[in-house]
Amino acid sequence: MVLKVWFLTISLVAFLFACQESPKHQDEFSQQTPAEQGASLYSMHCAQCHGEDGKLGASGAKDLSASKLSDAEMVKIIKQGKGAMPSMKALLETNQNINLVLSHIKGLRP
Ligand code: HEC
Repeated sequence: MVLKVWFLTISLVAFLFACQESPKHQDEFSQQTPAEQGASLYSMHCAQCHGEDGKLGASGAKDLSASKLSDAEMVKIIKQGKGAMPSMKALLETNQNINLVLSHIKGLRP
């Protein structure tokens, strides 16, 4: 348990460093299409638990490609977190980003 918390702390710190890297990162982001932005946000904030294909299941994460939840239910979990999943609201920053990620994870369904 302690180890797990450490791992999460370290990944978070590493992540924060990666984000501060350079303002160039932001420019690249704004030049991407909405689909690319959704994919980038997903890779940055979700893939470590859910996997790029949604099926990884790290830390007990649900398989997103098999999710039967409605948009509203998913947005609620993204904003508030659930069980071992922390709230992603602060990391995603805006409702627009939440919607971009939402479109991306719906695209993981068969
Ligand atoms: C720290 C690991 C972790 C991260 C990061 C994470 N999740 Fe999760 N996620 C989980 C866990 C664990 C669950 C299962 C929660 C439960 O039902 O107890 C879950 C469940 C979900 C569900 C519900 C799926 C279902 O069918 O029940 C959605 C949707 C979801 N996550 C989306 C996301 C998105 C989008 C992101 C990125 C913005 C994200 N998650 C980041 C761990 C994570």
